[in-house]
Parts: sequence; structure tokens; C-alpha cells
Amino acid sequence: MTLWSGGRFDEGPAESLWRFTVDTSDRRLLVDDITGSIAHTAMLGVVGLLTAEESEAILSGLGEIKDEALAGTFEFLDTDEDVHSAVERRLSDCIGALAGKLHTGRSRNDQVALDLRLYLRRSVDERSAQLRHFMGVLVDLAISVEDAVVASYTHLQQAQAVPLAHHLLAYAWMLKRDVERFSDARKRIDVSPLGAGASGGSSLPLDPRVSADLLGMEGVFDNSMDAVGSRDVASEFVWCVTQTMLHLSRLSEELLLWSSSEFGWVTFSDAYTTGSSAMPHKKNADIAELVRGKAATVIGDLTAVAALQKGLPMTYNRDLQEDKRIVFHADDTLAGSLDALSGMLATAEFHGAAPSGWVTALDLAEVLVLRGVPFREAHRVVGALIADLTAGGRSFVDLTGDQLTAFDARFEAADIGVVDPVASVEARVTPGGGSMESVDSQIAALKRFLE
Ligand code: ARG
Repeated sequence: MTLWSGGRFDEGPAESLWRFTVDTSDRRLLVDDITGSIAHTAMLGVVGLLTAEESEAILSGLGEIKDEALAGTFEFLDTDEDVHSAVERRLSDCIGALAGKLHTGRSRNDQVALDLRLYLRRSVDERSAQLRHFMGVLVDLAISVEDAVVASYTHLQQAQAVPLAHHLLAYAWMLKRDVERFSDARKRIDVSPLGAGASGGSSLPLDPRVSADLLGMEGVFDNSMDAVGSRDVASEFVWCVTQTMLHLSRLSEELLLWSSSEFGWVTFSDAYTTGSSAMPHKKNADIAELVRGKAATVIGDLTAVAALQKGLPMTYNRDLQEDKRIVFHADDTLAGSLDALSGMLATAEFHGAAPSGWVTALDLAEVLVLRGVPFREAHRVVGALIADLTAGGRSFVDLTGDQLTAFDARFEAADIGVVDPVASVEARVTPGGGSMESVDSQIAALKRFLE
């Protein structure tokens, strides 16, 4: 029995239509759907569209169904078209014909828009809590690596010496913006579409503010067509997920590089690595590879949720049923990735590795700049020195102070101390730069954010 049968339809739906149109993925909105119905029923009681006895009876039936949903005993039938039909069908099992009054002043169009928003609001809170936990893991790691110095990279070539903590904290700041993005999206998600009806509102005296208040929703729709026909909150959520996955994917890529024997910056615990069926020596960081791979699938979700809305005439169209699978997939992927990767990081052992090569070249040029040499000239001098050393198969560490002044008289012998990566980090003075003072103040600021 469909929600539309018995009226203008003489026949039930064809088997192929049924199989094609029914979407069981929305079953995970069961509790949200019942919560929405409870608020709607209470509102109908407040405005007098249901008598006190009627609303009480419907509410008690819905309460019973909610208990079943929470206990996992609610039974879906193959004949349920969607989660909304299932709840209404079950309600009529429980309270009989009165169940027919539940849908007063409501359409599945505003109902599904509400369910999705309730789901998104909860997900935003859950993902934000996971992100905060992840940031805490990064801050703890930054503290635990103390004053280890590594090379920062540009173009994947060693650039400048930096504290390893500075590198790890870069990710904590990225994730902080992800938390902020989710909480900004939450403002637009937390708006109730209930009362918008099919598309144009209702001739019944509904009060959308009452149901919104009962749902603890901050806002109420301003335009019923927008309320049922728009899914920008879904795209925005998937975008927030995608950007976070991009950050996790970049971190994963680095973790994989860092755990290679070439880098040797980090060792992962056995519990978070896998072996090879063929090569006895292998210890693979599959979690990081999977997060990197899964980021690709979420980029696909973002494309899908955008394409779903392109060219869609107002208002509700059945195309929008597809939004849920996309949102669920993106959300599940992020939830799983945050869990796995934060566990892998929390149990990792970082060693860092002293940078080799020319990471202090800029420091050496800046010594001359402080003596009044134009930067371009200082850059040329140090570049020529590097060319010279390279030709002789030597590096900064092979150079003495006297050789430095002999190369260019504007150098002093003591300047040779600058070529030590640790000294380079110690000499760093810019706010937010790669110095230990900067690392300390970043840790303090991030801790305040996480409090
Ligand atoms: N299952 C539908 C969806 O997820 C619910 C809304 C159906 N509305 C309609 N007019 N057929 O979008």
C-alpha cells in the first residue's frame, strides 16, 4: 500500500517501477524522521488542527515507534517506499485510522528536507568532535618531538630548516579551519523547512516556528519553494567533508613519505600497519594510502551533489532522492578516515631526521642582508658559493670560517655558525615562522581553541 494509492490510482505500481524508485538508504534517517513527526504532531495540537486527545494518541504511537527505532527492532517491509512511508505504515498498525492525520499540512517534500537537515546537524557536531580530537593528537605529537629539526620542502626539494613540530602543527591549523567551516555550515543547516508543505505552504493555520522550536532549530524557512527545492546545505556539507579529506590526504601522503627508509622520520605501530603476503620485511601504512584513495571518492561525491542540482527546475524533483547516498558516503568516509588516521598518528613514533644539503643557504644570504648588502646580490653570492662547493663535491659543513671570508670579504669568519640547521631555527624571529618560540605560542593557541 503506497502513500498515494486509493485515490486517482486504480492500479498499484509495476514491479520494475517499484524496484527502480525505492531507496532503502534513507532508513538511517528513521529516528530523525520520527523526531520530525513528533514535532509536527505537537505543532498541529498547538494550533488546534488536532484535538488534545488526537495529538496525545499520535504522539504516544510515535513514541513507541521511536523506542523500536532506537532499540533496533523497527521492521521495514519491502512494500515501504521510503522511511516516511514506513513510519506512517507502522503508526497505523499502532493507532489505527488516526494515523492518517499525521500528514496534515505536511508533504514528504518538507519532511525529507527536514530529515536531511537533522542528520547533517548531528554529523557536523560528530565530525567536529572527531576533528578536535585529531587536532589534540597533532598538538601532543608536536610537544613530544621537542626541538627536533627537519627540512621544510618546496617543490619537494629541501628548503629551510624548521622544527618538526612546526610541520606537524601546520596540519592542526588546517584542521582548525575545517572545524570552523563545519560550524559555519551548521548555521545554514539549522533552519527548519517544516511547514513549507509540497512547495507553496498551506491553507491550514500551521505555525512553523512552533515545530522549529520543538526541534531546537535556530531558523525557520522564509520561502516554502526554497525550503523544499534547495540542497545547497548538502553541497556545503559535502564540500566541508571534501576539504577535510584533502587535508587528511596530504597528511597521509607525507606520512607515507616520512615512513619510507629514504626519509625515516616516523615508525608506525604494528597495530596500525599491515604486512605483505609476499615480502617478509614489509610493514605498510595502508591506512594512509586508503585515506588518500578515499579522498578521491569524496571528490566524486562533491561533483555528484553539485551535478544533481544543476539545471533542476524548482521545486522538489525526485532527483533529490539521490542526495542522501552521496551525503552518507562522504560522511562515513570522513568519519572512518578521522578515526583510523588519528589512531595511527597517536601511536606513531617520530624521530625526525637532520636535514642535509643547503637548507641554511637563505640564512647565509640574510647575514649579508643585515650588513646592508641588497638581497639580490646576497642571493647571487651564496648561489655562487654553492656552485663552487658543489663542483668540488663539498657542502656547507665542509667549509671553514676563513674559507667563507676568502670567498667574499663581506662575510665574517663567525658567520659559518649559521650553516647549522639548529642555529638556523634558533635565529628565526618572524611571528608564525619556524622557531621554537613560534611553536610554543602555536601550541598554546591551539590548546585554547581545543579547551
Ligand atoms: N524518498 C523521497 C526523497 O528522498 C522523499 C520525498 C518524496 N516526495 C515525493 N514527492 N515523491 O527525496
